[in-house]
Amino acid sequence: MNGSGAGGRSQAPSPAPPSLLATQGARRAQATSVSRSGRAPAKINLVLEVVGRRPDGYHELRSVLAPLALADELSVRVGVVRGASPRDRLAVRGAQAPATSDNLVVRAAALLRAETGRPLAPLAFHLRKRIPVAAGLGGGSSDALTALDLAAAAWGLQLGVRRRLQLAAALGSDVPFFALGTWALVGGRGERLWQVPPPTGGPLGVLLVVPAARLATREVFAALDAGYGEQPAHGPQVGPLPPGARPGAAADLAARLRRGASAAQVADTEPANDLLPAAAAILPGLEPLRDELGALLGRPVHLSGSGPTLAVLYPSPGGARRAAAVVRDAAARRLLRPPGGALEVIATTTIGGEP
Ligand code: C5P
Repeated sequence: MNGSGAGGRSQAPSPAPPSLLATQGARRAQATSVSRSGRAPAKINLVLEVVGRRPDGYHELRSVLAPLALADELSVRVGVVRGASPRDRLAVRGAQAPATSDNLVVRAAALLRAETGRPLAPLAFHLRKRIPVAAGLGGGSSDALTALDLAAAAWGLQLGVRRRLQLAAALGSDVPFFALGTWALVGGRGERLWQVPPPTGGPLGVLLVVPAARLATREVFAALDAGYGEQPAHGPQVGPLPPGARPGAAADLAARLRRGASAAQVADTEPANDLLPAAAAILPGLEPLRDELGALLGRPVHLSGSGPTLAVLYPSPGGARRAAAVVRDAAARRLLRPPGGALEVIATTTIGGEP
């Protein structure tokens, strides 16, 4: 099973042995001895409403997001300075994630360096991917936030809460959620956040079914604009969202969580994701797969983010583990027809509300 480890971000700098520091230059000693690491959790959208289009081309969202125990692992070392313009480096294990300069890990470090205006030493990142990429689980965004924190620590920079959130928002719409690190009601294009309590009585079990075919968020929003799915009835809304002010599925779920909703009650939340018709327009096999899973498991099936990951919620981790076995068995017997011809099945849990 994936994602069974403890959630949350951790940083574990290992101090340089005195002998190294004594015999080498300070930068070289740092380069060879200090390694920091952190976890980058995935997320699911329990509800996602698109309530308007904004003048900046983004869409105004209302969503309830939960962090997951499923996580990538990122580590960083201050690299050895070579050449006139030293570069940050990234090595990726475990997925076909691009290890190029447009990877959000590298962009997070570059953004922070540019912000300081100082020639900070190059960084060498190692990323262990466990979160499927381009799947609606926020993996790249979470990696970016962890990279930002690790780079700041490696360079000895203090990031204030406000600046950290601003940098996070500059890296991508989902990144501020990971800066908050708890269950949240999210507004704006993702940068307005209200913490909501996790369900009472323990974390949810979460079954993730990830088709081999992938979706680009930008293309799903473009399909929505092209007329696939409900067009937002509202004009652009760029003002702050007063919590609970607008009746809707996201505000409703947030209000239920604030009133102390149990894991069993939250697990029964009606699926509501305004991006589903747009995602299904690009991947026509998505809705048949959702229906097949619903019939197989007898539970509501959610789409996370812009997809294509389908999520089924359970009141406890054991429910998700048992469901994973059922889905793997059905897939092996070719009873499911996932877009892309194959699927990955992951049983994990939400973070927060552990008894
Ligand atoms: O912010 P991020 O780069 O993650 O977004 C990827 C793309 O998704 C954007 O370029 C935009 O087309 C679309 N998007 C949107 N509205 C949002 C979030 C993302 O239109 N709230």
